[in-house]
Amino acid sequence: MLKALLLENVHPHAVSILGSAGIEVDARPGALDESDLIDALSGVHLLGIRSKTQVTETVLEKASDLLAIGAFCIGTNQIDLVSSAGRGIAVFNAPFSNTRSVVELALAEIVALTRRLTEKNKSLHEGVWDKSADGSHEVRGRRLGIVGYGNIGSQLSVLAEAMGMSVGFFDTADKLALGNARRYTSLEDLLDWADVVSLHVDGRPGNAGLFGEAQFARMRPGSIFLNLCRGFVVDHEALRDHIVSGHLVGAAVDVFPHEPNKRGDEFVSDLRGLPNVILTPHIGGSTEEAQEDIGRFVAGKLRGFLETGSTTLSVNLPPLNLEQAPGTHRLAHLHRNTPGVLATVNRILAEHGVNIEGQLLNTRGELGYVVTDVPGVLSDDVLAALQAMPETVCLRQLG
Ligand SMILES: NC(=O)c1ccc[n+]([C@@H]2O[C@H](COP(=O)([O-])OP(=O)(O)OC[C@H]3O[C@@H](n4cnc5c(N)ncnc54)[C@H](O)[C@@H]3O)[C@@H](O)[C@H]2O)c1
Repeated sequence: MLKALLLENVHPHAVSILGSAGIEVDARPGALDESDLIDALSGVHLLGIRSKTQVTETVLEKASDLLAIGAFCIGTNQIDLVSSAGRGIAVFNAPFSNTRSVVELALAEIVALTRRLTEKNKSLHEGVWDKSADGSHEVRGRRLGIVGYGNIGSQLSVLAEAMGMSVGFFDTADKLALGNARRYTSLEDLLDWADVVSLHVDGRPGNAGLFGEAQFARMRPGSIFLNLCRGFVVDHEALRDHIVSGHLVGAAVDVFPHEPNKRGDEFVSDLRGLPNVILTPHIGGSTEEAQEDIGRFVAGKLRGFLETGSTTLSVNLPPLNLEQAPGTHRLAHLHRNTPGVLATVNRILAEHGVNIEGQLLNTRGELGYVVTDVPGVLSDDVLAALQAMPETVCLRQLG
């Protein structure tokens, strides 16, 4: 029986989708460290995680039964994608399910910080009636600078304009500006212009320390800073200095370089206790709507990969989806992408008198993936011949 291990409170939808496919599911609340994860993966075919669990080369090397990993979140840099691809382990994520949740939190924080709601709220809870307009602004007409104009950044752009903000953005890729947003060709120019700077870049290693002392110093006096993307992108000591000096009048931070492993653990940060700073525990994408959609989406991808070999939207294998003709059996062959592999696969099948009913090949970098539909179950000698090909990375016969 196939087994799945789901960590970090993955939504129950995932448990029921995998369970209804006949997979035995072990769902646990927290993340596991490297050695506990290695132990827990023995005999496990599917692993489901969110952003805390690190799936390293060492873990993958020991996880001999693992077929696929579901990242029940957007980011996948907690997984060694190259190593997993080289072992034929497919990785799926949910690139779009919580986009809207992050955008709504960013908008709420922009309004809250611009009106200094955190301080008004705190004072009133302490019994102080601080009715004053000082330092409190409308967001209408203010300038929002978005760094990283991907799924989240571009949707924030549209909704912020709907609230009357002027939007500018900087992205290293050539992105289409939506609505009236203006594209800036350098981060510095964007920082010179914006009243509010919101980071939405991806978690590629090159973005470590993207925003530090020089960038905070470049921001306009009296401006506001938000980071809802990845913690390691920002130097928090520099952010603290610029809040304490009054150069920045507010900040909202949802992601941190070192985040506690589980609910209830102590949170340690330079940013604690600062005025007009909203700290949230990496909940940008954590709404019930998003979690439900992520659970459904990623579990569906894992199930599809097991049952049909579909790698559509996989982040590390060649993407491929072939409709299976009724009554056929399917062979999924992942191989090193060198000339002549497809010809060899087909020669082996022909030599054993196996007719091909349908076939699709795709490649991604050093890997090729071919799915072949044949009329009946393949004999052991055909499978052995295919397995013995020097280019074979992984071979699966599906129903
Ligand atoms: N806080 C949360 O709970 C939460 C939830 C979901 C996503 N996220 C994070 O939000 C971020 C954005 O997600 P997305 O789905 O929009 O990603 P995306 O891949 O669609 O967009 C990222 C964009 O950033 C751009 N980019 C990368 N490096 C850049 C740089 N140095 N300067 C300028 N542009 C750069 C890319 O070209 C791309 O357009 C990711 O880091 C993701 O992990 C956080």
